[in-house]
Amino acid sequence: MLVAVTRGVSPNIGRCELTHLEREPIDLDSATTQHSLYERMLLGLGCRVEHLEADPDLPDSVFVEDMAVVLDESAVITRPGALSRRGERPSIEQALELYRRLEHIRAPGILDGGDVLVVGRNIYVGLSTRSNAEAVQQFRALVADEGYDVFEVGFRGCLHLKSAATAVSDDTLLVNPDWVDAGTFPDLACIPVDPTEPKAANVVRVGDTVLFAAAFPRTGERLSDAGFDVRPVEASELAKAEGALTCCSLLFEVPTLPASTG
Ligand code: GLY
Repeated sequence: MLVAVTRGVSPNIGRCELTHLEREPIDLDSATTQHSLYERMLLGLGCRVEHLEADPDLPDSVFVEDMAVVLDESAVITRPGALSRRGERPSIEQALELYRRLEHIRAPGILDGGDVLVVGRNIYVGLSTRSNAEAVQQFRALVADEGYDVFEVGFRGCLHLKSAATAVSDDTLLVNPDWVDAGTFPDLACIPVDPTEPKAANVVRVGDTVLFAAAFPRTGERLSDAGFDVRPVEASELAKAEGALTCCSLLFEVPTLPASTG
């Protein structure tokens, strides 16, 4: 079964890091409601949701994805590029150590999970203001024995690689071709977002279902037309904090417990 680690919206999300966006007021109630609906969607799709408590001292901490990359064999705890986010790691480590052997990115490496796109045994790491080549080297060394190939990827126009490209199946990505060159992924098919929806490339794959941000209906329709089972998720308030759908969970497989015979 799938576990989804999430974290409540910090009451101080209004003080979040911003790179490509102008600051605008974030309505905490709306953000919290949207986040709860996201969690409920994951529950409805069969995930076990492990909800960590919100932390007023960590404005960006709802975006748990940036703290770790969870593979089948291990979880790599990142060293986030933003200093204000490094305190988010301990609670994520506690949540993940129940399920995975933990590995760590060390200084001078910096890495945000939002820059790490895992597609089968290929892992694409975006070089950004949050993730550097040193971290890519460390990451490659950490996962080499498990047979992963790790590729450095250039992109532009957005904070994280996964704002520009996410996987919708084992062999297909949804991409914004203005932000990442489709040639970056030679072995994968690429579906472009609708040109009027540049921020639409961040979707969450849960089994055979793809969650897309409700703000991007044309891209949702493209995915549906391509045969994907799609569900819209309202995430407009969290988007003001420069976070997208994948940012709000760490999703990974765990063995299903056998049914009790007692
Ligand atoms: N506000 C999301 C981030 O900058 O990490």
